[in-house]
Amino acid sequence: MVLTGPGLRAAARRRLPRFVFDFIDGGAGDEGGIRRNRAALDAATLLPRALTGIDAPDLGVTLFGETYAAPFAVAPMGLANLVGPGTDAALARAAAAAGIPYALSTAATTSMETLAPVAGRSLWLQLYIGRDPAITEHLIGRAEALGITTLIVTVDTPVPGRRPRDVANGFSFPPRPRPRLLLDMALRPRWALTMARGGVPGFRNLAPSAPAGGGSLIEMMRAQSSATTDWDTIAALRRRWKGALVVKGLLDPDDVVRAAGLGVDGVVVSNHGGRQLASLPAAITMLPAIRAAVGPEFPLLADGGVTSGEDVARLLAAGATMALVGKAMLYAAALGPGGPVKLVAGMRDDLLGATIQLGIHDWREYPSGG
Ligand SMILES: Cc1cc2nc3c(=O)[nH]c(=O)nc-3n(C[C@H](O)[C@H](O)[C@H](O)COP(=O)(O)O)c2cc1C
Repeated sequence: MVLTGPGLRAAARRRLPRFVFDFIDGGAGDEGGIRRNRAALDAATLLPRALTGIDAPDLGVTLFGETYAAPFAVAPMGLANLVGPGTDAALARAAAAAGIPYALSTAATTSMETLAPVAGRSLWLQLYIGRDPAITEHLIGRAEALGITTLIVTVDTPVPGRRPRDVANGFSFPPRPRPRLLLDMALRPRWALTMARGGVPGFRNLAPSAPAGGGSLIEMMRAQSSATTDWDTIAALRRRWKGALVVKGLLDPDDVVRAAGLGVDGVVVSNHGGRQLASLPAAITMLPAIRAAVGPEFPLLADGGVTSGEDVARLLAAGATMALVGKAMLYAAALGPGGPVKLVAGMRDDLLGATIQLGIHDWREYPSGG
């Protein structure tokens, strides 16, 4: 039995120190965004077509010139190795084995050079554009050198998210040894031991692009979420990056239409997992209007609260081409290196079952918002 949903979250909570679990699990403000993401998925019902005789639907999806085995991907997540050493690699390996995309964050604790041989063609790079164009240029150059063909630029973090649980825990990165954090660690000795062996995680993906004498990586990472990024920045990036360009973090149909008009190849409809602002709408709520505005063919990825294959089905039915899975992947990684493999396989089986049950041969034929 593969753990999903609340069971998976509870199992991760038992294994991780509180400040780590809260960093992953927590949201902005009163965390209403996280609750809304879940409630909106729960409220989405799917109408089955009976007697279609379909027993082997095709879950494959062709996106940005690649064919993936299933319509979901691992969302980009910074500081993943706080869960344990090798978490980025475990997620990349699970995605590659299943033939689905894995998006590596600018704020990742493993470099793209280390992960490229692990992830192979599954590797996408997520980019935070900051105030220093030289850093962006360097990150892009490294991605090109590795043959990465899909770049996701995240635009919904003009300021760092304010998450009360992190504030209450005194969470900082790298963790400073305050009494509260030391107590959290002492209560999870197995985590503490593996971290002691693996070494303190750092911003290893950003580090090679840091200019010499350019200040601390923490400061640089903070400056990578810059409110000065605008549409001209995206237009310039479109001219610079020859591969597939995806903008992550749009919710307004007009913004998605504008991005498509600039020649962007796809958009991630997302409220950043409720981590930036509690009052943002859930992606699934906005998807039908966005799909209607942008037309049936434009690639729309979407995320927020996905913990099962059936949740993926709900996003696809609302108009998404592919779903991204965030927190659930880190909870699975907390169960050990095999956790993400099991979660991905379980979600795929779950999606396959749901697709047969609904009588769908190909998700593109399902009448969605488009
Ligand atoms: C611990 C954590 C770190 C994240 N870091 C990033 C990041 O570096 N870049 C980014 O674009 N999104 C980041 N996200 C947001 C995810 O990519 C994704 O949009 C979100 O987690 C989806 O919601 P879910 O966690 O409910 O699945 C992060 C999310 C989490 C939970």
